[in-house]
Amino acid sequence: MENKKRNGFGTGMGFVLASAGSAVGLGNLWSFPYKTAKYGGAAFVLVYLLSVLVIGSVVMIADIFIGKRAKANPISAYKKANKNLGWLGLCAIIVPFMIASYYCVLGGYTIKFSLNSFNQNSTNLVHFTSNIGEVIIYSAIFLVLALIVVMAGIKSGIEKACKVLMPILFILLVLTVIYCLCLGNGVRDGLNYYLKPDFTVLIENPNSILAAMSQAFYSLSLGMGIMISYGSYIGKEIKIGKSVAIICAFDTLVALLAGLAIFPAMYHFIGEGGSVKFDNGPFLLFQTLPQVFDTLGVVGQIISFLFFGMVVIAALTSVIALLEVVTQFFIQKFRISRKKAILIAVLLCFAFSVPIGISFGQLVANVIDGKNATFMIYGNDLLSYFDDTCNTILIPTSALGSCIAIGWFIDKKITANPMKTFRTLKQDGLNLGKYSKFFAVKTKYITPILILTVAVFGIIDLLKKGSYGICVVITGFSIIVATILIYFIFFKNKETGCNLDEIDIAIATELKAEKKENNAQQ
Ligand code: PHE
Repeated sequence: MENKKRNGFGTGMGFVLASAGSAVGLGNLWSFPYKTAKYGGAAFVLVYLLSVLVIGSVVMIADIFIGKRAKANPISAYKKANKNLGWLGLCAIIVPFMIASYYCVLGGYTIKFSLNSFNQNSTNLVHFTSNIGEVIIYSAIFLVLALIVVMAGIKSGIEKACKVLMPILFILLVLTVIYCLCLGNGVRDGLNYYLKPDFTVLIENPNSILAAMSQAFYSLSLGMGIMISYGSYIGKEIKIGKSVAIICAFDTLVALLAGLAIFPAMYHFIGEGGSVKFDNGPFLLFQTLPQVFDTLGVVGQIISFLFFGMVVIAALTSVIALLEVVTQFFIQKFRISRKKAILIAVLLCFAFSVPIGISFGQLVANVIDGKNATFMIYGNDLLSYFDDTCNTILIPTSALGSCIAIGWFIDKKITANPMKTFRTLKQDGLNLGKYSKFFAVKTKYITPILILTVAVFGIIDLLKKGSYGICVVITGFSIIVATILIYFIFFKNKETGCNLDEIDIAIATELKAEKKENNAQQ
């Protein structure tokens, strides 16, 4: 029982790797390259880098700090900053749940594509999507893998898994980059598109600036409970500023490396204008790339196996983080064991993933074979619908919440003066040294304004899309209103738990089991 007395990360390295694991995901290996292709290449990359530096790192510091200070789930953590902000914590639990529900469908696809590497993967997409039973089974397998890790707890599950998986992922990625850079023809053109900025693209299409900013948020897993939750499991000795620098750098490095592999490869295999052909989201990963691998014979099959294996790892460490947020909340609010909490979380996710899987499959069949898609929301599949609702409305709201909580509410006495805020926060474990002042001003003024701008323009853009956009906006705001109502009615004046509760519950469960065993023996 002794080892259960502390539930949290065993080492700073473990925390950094687990956070990097949550950050590095499909967003880096898939959306980053295809969005770079779609929004104009190197100029997009530069705005992305700037967003990580100016907005992303600040929100990450705020998130981790809110968690570390409270040592509790996101609701209790926001509550500690200010009782009226607790609903932001609820929002930060609902978002990971929504993301996990569609992420596991994509995770299932990646497992299938990895295992199918030796069997004509280029035609796999149509077969696989038309067999909905199989899609559901693979989503379930993916969820079970995540369940096993989360059930084992923070130190023996999440930390251990990420310590093994993250280095493997990185090695596989570096090998892929080396291979792609040695392809010869087309490599230079691909690199030119990827690395030489043409700023007129940004002026012609200002949406690309917004896309780069929201990509940075998504990629760093911000604006949802993840960094609050992981932050709650770290000890005093861990320096937030330094950890954030490493996590952001690693996440960005992985995204950049993914581009460094994909652009040269696409220009090599597809030829002039290679970027244009693969800016079409899901088809890059599940059609264009398998077609390329298939042309390479056995070598291509091996590369495909390793490549999709790498994507599975990236997606898995992200879903583990998403599920941990929901699990932590269930344990602490409902006082149930970790085992029960993760089981409930996974079952709920699975229930949502089924319609999402069906709808996504119909979209694919519609694009490839022109089949009629019926399970849609105004012409869009459910996966995009969930993704758009989270990315455009819920994530920015929650990220804005972190900054506002830290910058304005954490303690009235100290927030009046940003400089003082951070002197006081230092005693609370946030040591940013000489950057304190800069960080204070950024958290209080600059970052919230930037987030708000991204959110407003994102919403306007959605509304321009007609019925679908309006539906997404209404869903997003309805979730926020529901969250506020639920919080004020059910949670505000009730106990919402903290990390220490898990130890109590674990001990109580163990005692109960021992008692049962003794009774049975008698
Ligand atoms: N950051 C992950 C990615 O880049 C996505 C993710 C978002 C994971 C939110 C966890 C939470 O794919």
